[in-house]
Order: sequence, then structure tokens, then C-alpha cells
Amino acid sequence: MLDAQNAPAAPITIRREDYRPPDWQVPEIALDFDLGAERTRVRSTLEVRRNGVHDRPLVLDAEALIIVGVTVDGSPVDYSYEGDLLTVPLAAASATVETVVDLAPRTNTQLMGLYESGGILCSQCEAQGFRRITPFPDRPDVLTRYRVRMTADRADYPILLSNGDPVGSGESEDGRHWAEWNDPFPKPCYLFALVAGDLVANRDSFVTRSGRKVDLGIWVREPDLAKTDHAMTALKASMKWDEDVYGREYDLAVFNIVAVSDFNFGAMENKGLNVFNSRYILADADTATDTDFDGIAGVVAHEYFHNWSGNRITCRDWFQLSLKEGFTVFRDQQFSADMGSAAVKRIEDVRMLRAAQFPEDAGPLAHPVRPESYIEISNFYTATVYSKGAELIRMMHTMLGAERFRAGTDLYFDRHDGEAATCEDFVRAMEEGGGIDLSGFRLWYSQAGTPRVRAALARSGEERFILQLSQDVPPSPGQPEKQPMPIPLKIALFGEKSGTKLDERLVLFDGPAHEIVFDAFGERPILSINRDFSAPVVVETDRTIADLAFLSARDDNPFARYEATQQLMLDTLLSAIAGSEADHAPVIEAVRETLADPALDPAFVAEAVLPPSEAFVGDHMAIVDPEAVRAAREELRSAIGRALEAQWRAAYSANSANRFEYSPAGKGQRRLRTVALNYLMAAGAADAPALAMRQYGEADNMTDRQGALAALVSSDAPERHGALAAFYDRYRGDPLVLDKWFTVQALSTRDDVLDAVEALASHPDFTLSNPNRMRSLVGAFAANQRAFHDPSGRGYAFLADMILAVDRLNPQTAARLVPPLGRWRRFDPARAARMKSALERIVASPGLSKDVFEQVSKSLI
Ligand code: ARG
Ligand code: ZN
Repeated sequence: MLDAQNAPAAPITIRREDYRPPDWQVPEIALDFDLGAERTRVRSTLEVRRNGVHDRPLVLDAEALIIVGVTVDGSPVDYSYEGDLLTVPLAAASATVETVVDLAPRTNTQLMGLYESGGILCSQCEAQGFRRITPFPDRPDVLTRYRVRMTADRADYPILLSNGDPVGSGESEDGRHWAEWNDPFPKPCYLFALVAGDLVANRDSFVTRSGRKVDLGIWVREPDLAKTDHAMTALKASMKWDEDVYGREYDLAVFNIVAVSDFNFGAMENKGLNVFNSRYILADADTATDTDFDGIAGVVAHEYFHNWSGNRITCRDWFQLSLKEGFTVFRDQQFSADMGSAAVKRIEDVRMLRAAQFPEDAGPLAHPVRPESYIEISNFYTATVYSKGAELIRMMHTMLGAERFRAGTDLYFDRHDGEAATCEDFVRAMEEGGGIDLSGFRLWYSQAGTPRVRAALARSGEERFILQLSQDVPPSPGQPEKQPMPIPLKIALFGEKSGTKLDERLVLFDGPAHEIVFDAFGERPILSINRDFSAPVVVETDRTIADLAFLSARDDNPFARYEATQQLMLDTLLSAIAGSEADHAPVIEAVRETLADPALDPAFVAEAVLPPSEAFVGDHMAIVDPEAVRAAREELRSAIGRALEAQWRAAYSANSANRFEYSPAGKGQRRLRTVALNYLMAAGAADAPALAMRQYGEADNMTDRQGALAALVSSDAPERHGALAAFYDRYRGDPLVLDKWFTVQALSTRDDVLDAVEALASHPDFTLSNPNRMRSLVGAFAANQRAFHDPSGRGYAFLADMILAVDRLNPQTAARLVPPLGRWRRFDPARAARMKSALERIVASPGLSKDVFEQVSKSLI
């Protein structure tokens, strides 16, 4: 028999339909922190008010707290503390409740609540970390005004930050000092933040459009100060952009950002005090790639935009998470598109969606954008809630047009400012403000699964063409039957002979099937569909290789043009995998034309000439065969490399080392240059490794250096050893760059990756306690299709070991490693059995967190 201690945590499922307003509101809180890494004492004074007519006690969430005392209106009270709930009997309709608790930040390895990172004390409260700091009704519909006082040792923690505006500071006894902050905006407790540490700031300011000056600070440890300029530039650009595009102005006198090295996610939008994973702040040419620079601008913008879409209007409950996340991702995508190449940004966003969200939507963890239930809410910070959620907002934008969309968001911000709202509130504001009926569109929030659209364009009689559309939405867990979804499809027709655009329109397709009749064109039309990826669906068409080649050279919608080339490559790979004699010629010709088109931006060319990822190819197979996918894709790469060797050499030198400049043009050139290098390597050009070594040695930026290193590490060239060693020696002191060193090895296409990864897991620089480092090796390895799915099952066993080891320290981070194993139904019986047994071993382990329990048990059903 299991004793209570070893029993798996009884998993309680929380359901959306069970939502009830809070029993007690907390209009005010005063928090007093006596800070220390070993022990922090938190005195919390709540003004509570009974909400509605009831006689229920005050029940506060309280996790892993040492309760020192509880009083009500100054008198001790007979409270109980059981199962993470502190229950306080209250007779009156309002009261002052004071709790005193102790925390141990240094041993908090979960990185939720108050913890220590590199000597800095910092907090992370979303979704449910505040209960690990002080007893509180930890739910987003309780909005409270915060006053925070912190006292700490002045030498160790000279800087004391919290939300809102600083209102006082001074000395205390024994080398300690204090500071007070006041946030005038009522907020849910997940937006509380505190930081104490030895930090320096990059300071700047921004004048809002109504003329208020905002003091900006990006706080880091002293040696990192020189790497904060890019983030500051992005912050100011975001503040301006949100005024221009959404009419949203910042609302406090101070906006601070702090970068810490140990962080579960990307960053956190705490009111006036964003806390960031340092990888989304720190950058300079020597240590950060263009992708890193772009990621920083995007995440800085994302967190800043949350000030309105998340903070001023928050979520009523966690099922509404996409209300803030989907909308804010859409906003950051628009911002990045406006700052650089919109076409390339759209390609990157769709690639992300297909890499992370489509598989999620097709697997055991599929859930609607607005989920119906959860065991652990941290498991629902998913690609579906974020990226598919953003696609839903984008579809509304597409259907409404920019102006009416803005009328909708104006109404939303105006109507719900200061409230905790729902996805339904957002949709209603769009309907009323934008003037559109979205009754059918709501299905996108409640139905999981990626719709599949079939499109066939056929001649009907002499004169007419008919486009036949049909759709189906595959079943997903808990949703066996699906209704057809309203799908906005941007389409165009091009004349096969003339090459001119014959028709262009937005089709709203909302039934199981639909026909559109076109009158005579005098030539055969070629279909361009889901242009700009106007809907997050899979489209299957009856277009021939020749049609795709035509669009690849001529479509005037950059995304559709890219898509045609991708489809051409995908079809070629799938038929090679199916065993037909591979005909690489059409792909080679399409790549040749793309490379030769002087009108195209190099950044676009670099995306368009790359074959789809192994994972994406596998997603189109009935049963994934990772070896066949790898072989077919490498063969195609090598054929493209060999056939166009002269062109790759030309592209390589045309885009070679000018002085580093972070600009859309500079980025595009660097990207195309490394793509060309990889094709020369794939071609087996004798001088390619030397070219890579020279690029490695002469690079004045990390993009070129890492690009060269990755090309070598996937090759047999003996130079790869020297390059890896040189990289390690140069960057061993820089954790964010050392992460790249682990990642390039984990992503290598060499056959000995598994050995290398197992050895790296024992490297002195590897640690399970830093989420970035852990993901840089383990997360990257699990994405390496051929290596992770090694037929021996060693990859699965390795991942299961890592999940179990990390779970003891940090359940959230462990749970995020589960999905690759959950894909077992997609593989052959031998692999599926090994993946399943890895999952079974995990779920049978004693002391599992509810985070990992939820993901693994759902993956086994
Ligand atoms: N709200 C943050 C963001 O999207 C993410 C916080 C995730 N935290 C968590 N525990 N799931 O910017
Ligand atoms: Zn967010």
C-alpha cells in the first residue's frame, strides 16, 4: 500500500464551467518584506471585503509557506492550514487580515514565487506563484492596490524594486536599508513583482504622446550593462508603436525591466517591473545572433504591450489566458513585421505555428484556444493558447480590415479597462466596434484540431471554372465530433499563359463544402490559396508540380510564393520517401529562379530556398519514418547543392562579410550567406569546410560564427573538432553563448549525436537547475528527429531520465519536455512501444509533480 507521503498527488481537475466569482475581494494590500536569501519574512496586511451574501470563511491559497502568525483586526485568530489552503473564519463583512510567513528563496528551485538567481532575489508569480510568497486569493479576478516595503542588506541588495512608483527609501540598522513602492493601478496578484540585487541600469526616458515623461531602466549585473542597448531601443520603439497603432499610452512614471539568468519562460509582464530571462535582453554583435536580436525586440515588445492587453484589462480566470496571450502575440507579430520585413516575419511565424502548434493540435495534448479543463495551469502556456490564439485575432483583423479592427480594439480597451475580462468580451467588442457578426467564429475558441481544407479547381463546360472547397476538423481528446469552422481564405487565380492575376478575393468558407464559380478567363487559371496564411489550416490542393513551379516563380504574394516552393519540395520529398525515383529537377529549377530574381530580398530568398524541416515532412506521413525523411531531405539538399554550385558560390560571395549592422538588409545577407554555405557543404564541395573555417575565423558577429560552426558540426570535416574547441574556449564564461555550444551539437545531423549528447549531459558546464542550459541540450536533442528517434530507444530513455531528474527541481520545466514522447501514435509499432514505455516509467515514478503527471497521463490515453 502507498503511504500518504508517496501517493501520487491526487490530481484535481479544474473546469471552466465551474467558475464562480470570488467570495472575498481584497481592495488593498500592504506587503512588508524582510529580505534574505536564506530566509525572507513576509508580513502581509489585507483589507478584505465580503463579495455578495454568503457565510463562507476567507480561504487563502498558501503553498509551501511557514506560517508565523495570523491576526484579524489585530487579534490572533483560529485559522487552519491544510492542503495549500489557509482558512480564516470571518464574521464581519470586511476585516483587516494580517499574516506573517517565512520563505527560503535560496532553496526555491521551482523558480516560482520568490527565488534567488545569480545572487539576485526575484519573483515570478504567473500563474500561481503569489501563493508561494504570501497567503492570498490567488486568482486573476481579485484586483488589489499594492503597497510594498522591502528591507534588505545594503551591500548584497543595493537595488530594491517593485511595481508602480518608488515612494520612499532610507537606512535601517545593521547595514540594512529599505524602499517603498506604490502601484496605483489595482491588479491581480500574478502581476506582483519584487527584485532585490546588486544591479546597474541602462537608463533612458520616453515622452508619451500626451507629454508625460517616463523613466526607463533596464537592470542587469554590471558586466552585462553594455549588452542592453538593443533592448532599450526596442522598448522605446514599442512604446511609440502602441501609441501609433493602438492609441495606447503608458500609464506610470517608471518602467523597469530586470534580466535574470534563471527563468522558466521568456519573460513576465509584471506591472511596471517586467522580469526577463536574460536571453531576451542581452545582446551584442559578438554574442547574439540575428535571431536573438529579433527575439529580444519581439519579447520586449510583447511584455510591454501586455500593459494594456493583460494588465489594464486582465483575465477573469485562467481559461481566458489567450485573451491576453493570443492578442499580445498578434500585437508583437505586427510590431516586428512593421520594424523589418513583413513577408519574412510572416514566414517565420507560420513556421513556428507548424512546428509547435499543429503537432500539439493533432496529438494527445490538443486543447481548444480557450481550454475547458486543466490539472496544472502552467501546462497551458502552450503554442495553442499563444500562437493559434494570435491566428484567431489575425483572422478577425483580416475579415475586418485594419480600420474596423481598430474600432473593435478601441471599444474593447474602453469598455473593459480596469476589469478582469473573458475571450467572449473581446469577441463581443469586435462585433460591436467592428460591425461584424462573429457568431460562427466563436467555434475557433472552443474547438480544438487543425481544420483540413481540400481545394480543387476544375473546368466546368467550355467557359467556366469551379473552385470546390471542403473542410473537415479531425477529432481531438474529448471532442470526437466537430462542426465546420468559418475559414477566411485569401485566394487568387493566375493565368497559366499570360501570367497575369485573373481574380483575387477573400472567401469566407464556413460550411462543410462550398463552390465558387468563375466565368471564362480564356486560359487555364492556377490557384493561389491561403495567401498570407490567412487561416491556420492545412490546405490540400490538386495543383500539379508545374502549377507549384509557376507560383514559386510568379505569385505576387510573398508568403504564397514561399509556400508554393515549400509545397513543391514537400511533394518531391514525400514521393521520394514513398519509393518513387526522386525527380529533383523541378525543385532545382525553382531554387535557381528564386536565386536569380533580382527583385527579391535576400532574407526572403534564404527562407524560400530551404527545404521544409524533417519534422514537417514527417507530419505529412501516415507513419513517420525519421531515417527515410533524413535520407530524402539530405539527398535533395545535396542535389540542389551540386546542381547550383556556381550559384551558391556567387550568392556566398555577393553576401559576404560587410561590417556588422543589425538591419533588415544586413540580416538578410547573413542569412543567405550561411544558407549558401550549407548548400556548398551539402554538395560536398572540397573547399566548403575551409570556407566554413574561414567564415568562423573572420566573423565579426555571432550569426556568421554560429552559422559556420553549425555547418561544420554536422559534417565529417576534421575541422569541426577545432571549431568546437575554439568556440568553447572563447565563450566558456558567457552562459548564453555556451547554450549555443550545447545546442549546435544536439542538433547535428551526424550519426554519433546520441553519444555526443549523453557525454554532454555529464559535462561540467551542464546543469539541470538552469532552464536555458537544460533546454539548450535536452530540448534541442528532442527536436533532432533522426537522433531522438533512434531505433534503439536510447533517445527516449535519455529524455525520460532527464524529465524525472528535472521534475525533482523544477516541475514546470520538466513538464515542457514531455510532448516529444507523447507523439508515439505517429510512429511504427517498435518505436511507439519504446516511447510508451518511457512514458509509463515516468508515470510510475514516486513523487511525480502534478505538472508532469498531467502531461504524461494525458499522453498515454
Ligand atoms: N505572461 C508571460 C508572457 O507570456 C508568461 C508567463 C508564463 N509563466 C508561467 N508560469 N506559465 O509573457
Ligand atoms: Zn505574454
